[in-house]
Amino acid sequence: VSGGVPDLAPEQLPLPVRPVSPSVEPPLAALLELTHRCPLQCPYCSNPLEMDRVQAELTTEEWCRVISELAMLGALQVHFSGGEPTVRQDLVDLVRHAREVGFYTNLITSGAAITRPRFLALIDAGLDHVQLSFQDAEPNSAVRISHVPNIQEKKLAFAGWVRESGTPLTVNAVIHRQNIDHIDAMIDLAVKLHANRLEVAHVQYYGWALANRAALMPSRAQLEFVTERVMDARERYRGKLVIDYVVPDYYAHQPKACMGGWGRQFLNITPSGKVLPCHAAETIPGMTFPSVREQPLADIWAHAEAFQRFRGTDWMPEPCRGCDQREIDWGGCRCQALAITGDAAAADPACAKSSWHAAMQEIAATASDASSQTDFRYRRMAAAPKH
Ligand code: FES
Repeated sequence: VSGGVPDLAPEQLPLPVRPVSPSVEPPLAALLELTHRCPLQCPYCSNPLEMDRVQAELTTEEWCRVISELAMLGALQVHFSGGEPTVRQDLVDLVRHAREVGFYTNLITSGAAITRPRFLALIDAGLDHVQLSFQDAEPNSAVRISHVPNIQEKKLAFAGWVRESGTPLTVNAVIHRQNIDHIDAMIDLAVKLHANRLEVAHVQYYGWALANRAALMPSRAQLEFVTERVMDARERYRGKLVIDYVVPDYYAHQPKACMGGWGRQFLNITPSGKVLPCHAAETIPGMTFPSVREQPLADIWAHAEAFQRFRGTDWMPEPCRGCDQREIDWGGCRCQALAITGDAAAADPACAKSSWHAAMQEIAATASDASSQTDFRYRRMAAAPKH
């Protein structure tokens, strides 16, 4: 992948930067949250509770400049995300520009807000890959979770266009207590759609999912059931369908290397241009996140306090500091440490060595026991719950 920049309008040219620190590797990929607008209202959305309004969104020229800066920085992939990225009328232009500057481009979508001609225009612009989310395999449940009528028909039609175009397709199935019994049907759906990859991802409890934890958390027995079904399907579909599996941290014993480690491989850019080390970083109090409107991206990546704060291993407390896994899990997830312990610098409670580990498992057991709680607090721009 080339990092070269083709002929660009002046406003699309990268801002001048200080040299990137030699000790900081370039990011592998960037998640571009083009907008927080979305026709769906999923109660586990990873967007923040307080979302950016359309008036605050970066313009087409600003996004093109940012994409050029990312290429100059040495990143290889851009993921167009949201909200629902296809509601941006300039998505085709942004994909084309990303391809022109050498990126592998991925569209993360619900498939519910795009027509066939527009999808074909994206392919024409050079879109490389599509990741399509499903709320459930069972249509009525999918409607209830997304809060959108006829959602399944729209998604199935969209998946058909993707396959017709020969574009690689990943199906993303988000699993929680209220759809967990349909795991076999979700695997069958991915097979039927000729997906190349299926991501079975248990809800991770940040943002809206944290607000809905008691309605979403599975029991340990349900988790074990899904794990067994996924392992079985991996054997059955070996060579036909790759299945990724993301377990909920609340039942884990070792932390995951969240985002591949803070400020190591990924960055998120919000609709209004704030640059974050992860999608939930804004929940951490006392941190400020620079904007691409004010500072060159390379400068932010290499030098911003928000990226330096938990980068590498120097910030780690015990037991992380002396742990032989510290350069494997990079301390786990800072946002989860904050959500459970109140301290973003604490050991991730998903780790069995954390003094909060038992408390986290207790929270999971209590939340999963609330089987009478099935009502969702839907993701709505105007109805962000107070926190
Ligand atoms: Fe922020 Fe894991 S989500 S570090």
